[in-house]
Amino acid sequence: MSLDLPILFGTVRSERRSIWVARYVERRLAQRTGVTTRLWDPRELPFGNLDRREWEMTERPAVVEEFVRAMDRADGFVIVTPEYNFGIPGTLKNLLDHLFDEWNRKPFGFITAGAAFGGVRAQDQLRQVISGLHAITIPMALAVPRIGETWGPEGPVGDREAWDERLTAFFTELEWYARALQAARREGDHASAVA
Ligand SMILES: Cc1cc2nc3c(=O)[nH]c(=O)nc-3n(C[C@H](O)[C@H](O)[C@H](O)COP(=O)(O)O)c2cc1C
Repeated sequence: MSLDLPILFGTVRSERRSIWVARYVERRLAQRTGVTTRLWDPRELPFGNLDRREWEMTERPAVVEEFVRAMDRADGFVIVTPEYNFGIPGTLKNLLDHLFDEWNRKPFGFITAGAAFGGVRAQDQLRQVISGLHAITIPMALAVPRIGETWGPEGPVGDREAWDERLTAFFTELEWYARALQAARREGDHASAVA
């Protein structure tokens, strides 16, 4: 059974470097057998701050329709984001808050970028936020420390082989959860636990 695993990117900052990671992850994930993916850049989405959630919008732009349909179809998600001041960028929180049902009972994996610790505090925050979306987070997460020194526009600067191995392990785990939950959603009762 094929898996659809879109990548959600976390920032619109003009000099953003973590987009290097997102693009590299997209290229690697697209090479996996039986997996389709697409990188979603918040610059392409008119979400901004939370004025109305997507289902409360009276006229939804075509790109919002496309995004919602793609998230509904998805079997799991990779979030690639930088850490800003020990947390996730507001842009990413807004993007997640605009939808709800489309996230439910699906797995999320994180790849964060930052300074010395590679954004691990953003990962902790994401684990809390994703629970609020009635979704689950996979145990494994990747952190890119000192992104300005260790990565460039084409990907990791020095240890590409090691990064490819880490990514393979990460994708393998995400796919395991995505397959398990896809089967459970298909065979099971879809009643939501949301009161
Ligand atoms: C507003 C802001 C806050 C930041 N806060 C953190 C932080 O809390 N932890 C960290 O490791 N790096 C932090 N950094 C450094 C970023 O991780 C680093 O600049 C990285 O390039 C940011 O990703 P970006 O270039 O895609 O925006 C911060 C950078 C910005 C712009």
